[in-house]
Amino acid sequence: MAARALSLSLILLCCSPTFAYPFHYSSWYPWRRSWKRSTGSTRNVPSEGFYNPSLTGGSMLTFVPNTFPEGQGEPLNAILSGNSDERVLQDTETNGGLLNYFASFGFSGECLGQHSGSDQGADLGDGNGILNETAVIRWNYGDPQLGSCKETIQGGNHFRYWVQNGPEANSGAIFMGISYELPLQLDHDIVSNGYNNGRDWLVGNITGSAIPSLTLTNGTTYTSTTSFGNYTYQTQITYVDGLLQNTSIGINHNITVSVEGVVNASDGLVAVLEVSITGTPPTSIAWKPSPSRFWQLYSLIFVLCLTFLPS
Ligand SMILES: *[C@@H]1O[C@H](CO)[C@@H](O)[C@H](O)[C@H]1NC(C)=O
Ligand SMILES: *[C@@H]1O[C@H](CO)[C@@H](O)[C@H](O)[C@H]1NC(C)=O
Ligand SMILES: *[C@@H]1O[C@H](CO)[C@@H](O)[C@H](O)[C@H]1NC(C)=O
Ligand SMILES: *[C@@H]1O[C@H](CO)[C@@H](O)[C@H](O)[C@H]1NC(C)=O
Ligand SMILES: *[C@@H]1O[C@H](CO)[C@@H](O)[C@H](O)[C@H]1NC(C)=O
Ligand SMILES: *[C@@H]1O[C@H](CO)[C@@H](O)[C@H](O)[C@H]1NC(C)=O
Ligand SMILES: *[C@@H]1O[C@H](CO)[C@@H](O)[C@H](O)[C@H]1NC(C)=O
Repeated sequence: MAARALSLSLILLCCSPTFAYPFHYSSWYPWRRSWKRSTGSTRNVPSEGFYNPSLTGGSMLTFVPNTFPEGQGEPLNAILSGNSDERVLQDTETNGGLLNYFASFGFSGECLGQHSGSDQGADLGDGNGILNETAVIRWNYGDPQLGSCKETIQGGNHFRYWVQNGPEANSGAIFMGISYELPLQLDHDIVSNGYNNGRDWLVGNITGSAIPSLTLTNGTTYTSTTSFGNYTYQTQITYVDGLLQNTSIGINHNITVSVEGVVNASDGLVAVLEVSITGTPPTSIAWKPSPSRFWQLYSLIFVLCLTFLPS
């Protein structure tokens, strides 16, 4: 009788909230454990959401090997702000991460995971120097599985991206160089006005309506919602000037891309995307702390304890 009372009180003690709490905390916030970025330096985001690479020795143009004339680059014409939801800034398909966000407006990783096309470099002025793109992402023609294969062959919209996470400017922002390319047979050159239009068609894929490229100005703003895998994203898009030049000089393929007297290869605008997550899949609700969830867990442990109670 005494032994039974002792074991019962021991069990009650070990099942009490005091003991359950550390377990509860470490596994209830899986994203909190990985919020520091892999570089080791702490992320520090200015109010703009990124650092201007040109102010610290970097460039808003990419480094393209073997251009003619030499030294031409492609504009980094969109930036996913470091003030976006922390989950979107993680380079993952799961947990609402960056690749799931890209899929929410119709862009996927390369065809069957095969890397095609040449690498480009970018120096985001963050102390990492010139790095090749993290990945190439292509418009998937409405088919998240195989659509990017079609893009590789037929051409279409695509972008390379780099993360500003070096020790000297760790904003976590994602810099994107977007362009609309010709089919593979035509060597993947860029179509006429293909940097500005590529940027604006991507933005149009987010807003669901055509963006009037030629009338955009510093400060033009759109807000819209997209979803994939039951994650819902709200994106605020703001066009800003002053980062890129309104010019064709030094822009890769400028002879065919610029439209004489109408628009330069780079119109000088960058689309800044600030993303928040406004909906998550039903399963992830289980990961949110709530008093009712806590008591469900507590009751479950208690019942399990009782099951093994020595008689
Ligand atoms: C970038 O990729 C090229 C091959 O396309 C490679 O030769 C070069 O070493 C890479 N640069 C860096 C910094 O990784
Ligand atoms: C979505 O992207 C495709 C491919 O780039 C483009 O043809 C289409 O116009 C875009 N949609 C909008 C509304 O801009
Ligand atoms: C663009 O707009 C921003 C924010 O309103 C402003 O600070 C900046 O000076 C503007 N750029 C130019 C070139 O006027
Ligand atoms: C999204 O949620 C619905 C139920 O609300 C479910 O049937 C569907 O499989 C989910 N899709 C994904 C991709 O998780
Ligand atoms: C293109 O850029 C040059 C500066 O390089 C500028 O003088 C010219 O007015 C621009 N043209 C158009 C159509 O925007
Ligand atoms: C393209 O850029 C080069 C410099 O890289 C410049 O010499 C040339 O004039 C530009 N061409 C056009 C059509 O803007
Ligand atoms: C680029 O410069 C031209 C010529 O000055 C001007 O007409 C055009 O509005 C500028 N483009 C943007 C997006 O500011």
